[in-house]
Amino acid sequence: MSFVADDLAVALQHYFERRPGLDVAIGSGRLEEFVARELAQPGLLDQFVREMGLSKVGSGPVSHAEPGEGALTPFLAEYIAERARIGPDAPAMRIRPEPSGAPQPIVAVVFTAEAVLIIDTVSALAEDAAPSGLAVVAVRDTWLDERGRALRAIVHDPGGPADVRFSSPAAMAAAWILHLAPPEHETHRELSARLDRAGVRVLNPYQTSQRLDDKAETHRLWRTAGVETPDWTLLPFGTSSVAAATMVADAVGRWGGAFILPNDATEGREVERFAPGQERAAADHAARLLRSGPVLLRQPRGNIRFGSPPRAMALRVHVAWDGTRWEAESGFAQVAPSSEDPVASRGRGGSIVSLRQALPPDTAVALAEASECAAAALGPGSGVIGLDLVLENHGDSARAVFLEANPRPAGLNHSEPLLAPGGQGPWVTRALWRGLGG
Ligand SMILES: Nc1ncnc2c1ncn2[C@@H]1O[C@H](COP(=O)(O)OP(=O)(O)O)[C@@H](O)[C@H]1O
Ligand SMILES: [Mg+2]
Repeated sequence: MSFVADDLAVALQHYFERRPGLDVAIGSGRLEEFVARELAQPGLLDQFVREMGLSKVGSGPVSHAEPGEGALTPFLAEYIAERARIGPDAPAMRIRPEPSGAPQPIVAVVFTAEAVLIIDTVSALAEDAAPSGLAVVAVRDTWLDERGRALRAIVHDPGGPADVRFSSPAAMAAAWILHLAPPEHETHRELSARLDRAGVRVLNPYQTSQRLDDKAETHRLWRTAGVETPDWTLLPFGTSSVAAATMVADAVGRWGGAFILPNDATEGREVERFAPGQERAAADHAARLLRSGPVLLRQPRGNIRFGSPPRAMALRVHVAWDGTRWEAESGFAQVAPSSEDPVASRGRGGSIVSLRQALPPDTAVALAEASECAAAALGPGSGVIGLDLVLENHGDSARAVFLEANPRPAGLNHSEPLLAPGGQGPWVTRALWRGLGG
């Protein structure tokens, strides 16, 4: 098959996917060198064209394109490495090493983790925001200058995602801190302070996110406001193993089992469920987690499962602040990898299922209302939060039981509208952009 690659960088990323020696170069920390050497090889282009089945690259015939100039190399090397390591399915990136103008006005997703994993989210957000006249771009923390302006960004271009260097630093109308590498909380705090000092409006400032990162505090706020949430017990950092074992045994007995997780857990990491009879293992798990921080014990809730054989299911609902109120707009469902696994989280091998498949009939409106109440109970304005909840059958109605609120929700690109699932492509939020005055 022959195709026209209208972007040399995109074609080269696909080419390097299959390049012998790539793994060795990455493993030995010499990827840049490897890419530069390969690109400089005489005859590379002919080989590249043959192997890729290309007929043309860019606006001229491929033989006129000159990838060996070196300008592309550092940019290409970053994307080649990330794709090889963690994102082989990520869209290949168009790269504009020569400076060009920034779209105006921009709202930046500021991130520190892998660029290839934020591309689809930027595209989804950019499409949501376009009718409001805002351009959503993604900016790595190191691409910001000392005045909080973007020097480089991943932009959503009609021809595909593009990595662009701006000809002059671009001021940001607002920043949304998402997709952070560990340690997430620390990085959120630093970035939030840095943007604040530079006078950039942060949609999810650390102070408001901090409350949500503390799961026990979220339970407390929900319980106070009458929002349905599991019973919980917090084992403070420093609790002795002996005291923890007593509290764990008590919780397992009282609730007929317990989920045990770090109070600041993320992505389902270290979340385990223990049944009566497993008190010893439960106490060991709690004692181990207590070495690094406070531990949360939670009553197991939720009896609506997904598929056949039935698997544990948790819903993610995105609720956006439009400047005056919270609006539940979109989401997706996560399903456990097997019917024995109680943890429904993609970070634990679970899968993503659309709301259309996951929601029982006629539940969307009630779920949206419950989610808006749950968000309101956590306080005002914080961009978009991702609520995790399980569903319970009560007579002939399904009720939401809220587990936690994520101030930096991942997987936004999988979301679809809550009240019209199965409609047009991804939809994360329109209310947020409306609220930004676009
Ligand atoms: N009390 C509970 N009842 C039912 N399922 C739970 C409970 N606590 C945790 N889970 C399961 O574990 C998953 C991860 O828990 P969560 O509180 O969302 O932590 P994380 O921050 O790691 O995502 C949930 O999506 C759900 O599938
Ligand atoms: Mg969660």
